[in-house]
Amino acid sequence: MLNGREIHCSTARASIKKYGLSIRGLEIYPPLFLAPMAGLTHSALRTTILACGGVGLLSTEMLAAWRLPDENVDISPYLARTAEEYPLSYQLLLNDAALVEPAMQVLRRLQADAVDINLGCSAPRVRRAGGGSGLLATPRVLRAIIRRARKATDGPLSAKIRLGDGRKETLQPLCQMLGDEGLDMLCIHARLQKESFSRKPRWAHIAEIKQWLDIPIIANGGVDSVRSAQACFEQSQADGIMIGRAAACKPWIFAQIAKALFQDTTVCLEYEKPLLYASFCQGIQERFRPERRLGRLKEFTHYFATNYTFGHYLASRVQASRNMQQAVRHALHFFSVHDPTGYRQLQEQKGQWISSCVQGG
Ligand SMILES: Cc1cc2nc3c(=O)[nH]c(=O)nc-3n(C[C@H](O)[C@H](O)[C@H](O)COP(=O)(O)O)c2cc1C
Repeated sequence: MLNGREIHCSTARASIKKYGLSIRGLEIYPPLFLAPMAGLTHSALRTTILACGGVGLLSTEMLAAWRLPDENVDISPYLARTAEEYPLSYQLLLNDAALVEPAMQVLRRLQADAVDINLGCSAPRVRRAGGGSGLLATPRVLRAIIRRARKATDGPLSAKIRLGDGRKETLQPLCQMLGDEGLDMLCIHARLQKESFSRKPRWAHIAEIKQWLDIPIIANGGVDSVRSAQACFEQSQADGIMIGRAAACKPWIFAQIAKALFQDTTVCLEYEKPLLYASFCQGIQERFRPERRLGRLKEFTHYFATNYTFGHYLASRVQASRNMQQAVRHALHFFSVHDPTGYRQLQEQKGQWISSCVQGG
């Protein structure tokens, strides 16, 4: 159990308090992080997670630095953010050191609470552009990027990597360079570069990396329950854990882990799934333009539907929908049949919203 385990660590840039982290003045408690996920970790999912609580640091999806200065902050679904989404780390996708300063300027204007650099994404189009894990092939460019990013912000700066090709000879110099250039924190997705997300994560490998660096290490990959969170903490010896897909399946997962491992009593575990789904829908209806809504609802539903035995009905009906209104109607019908208790609560608490969706308002 983490209960009672006091963590002592202090470096020039960060101190790790009992159960939490303080990085350049940013308090992260509990040390449970939302992973950046393209198409998923936007404002609507973040506020749905916050309704349950237990998350220490939120994240945007990856933001291409070459597009960021041209994004219209007032309508961009990537940049939409409400005041309650705090603290929020913005993840940058970079492929050229010249892009760092203009991108950081935008993030300063947006009052980013922390900045993360994507060094792990191996999607072919990202690698082809020389970003994500593609940057590891050009160490000089990578070092210049980290150096300029460090110069451009006094706030928390992290990077997210995978375990590379698994060889210490390549991974250790990379990690040490990142530490030497002034990163405050390193998030590690515990899979090799080419491994699929279905492979068992290598949490114990992170414990080895922790020996090489004196900055907080955050472990990521395969955490989807209190039990796996505990196992991940124990095997990785990490200072925090980061959760990706399970946050879209179960937005309450941070609350469960925070309560079980950190005795966080501020969390809300009295959720009904249809209510959380509705809160997500309202988030996208309120904050995104009509043409930006349906795709995001489909992406989220793909994960959320796994909570139900017959969830594939929900996922496939939403997937086949031609517009947001049709998708929401299908979802409401699904909940009325497969989750009648949750649906009743939804009717009690958001009756007006249901009417407006059903009547097409
Ligand atoms: C749909 C999707 C989008 C993702 N987008 C990003 C991204 O924008 N930046 C990033 O660093 N990792 C991205 N990832 C990887 C996740 O951050 C995380 O490392 C991975 O899902 C493993 O964690 P998990 O097992 O908790 O899901 C993405 C993963 C998924 C499934």
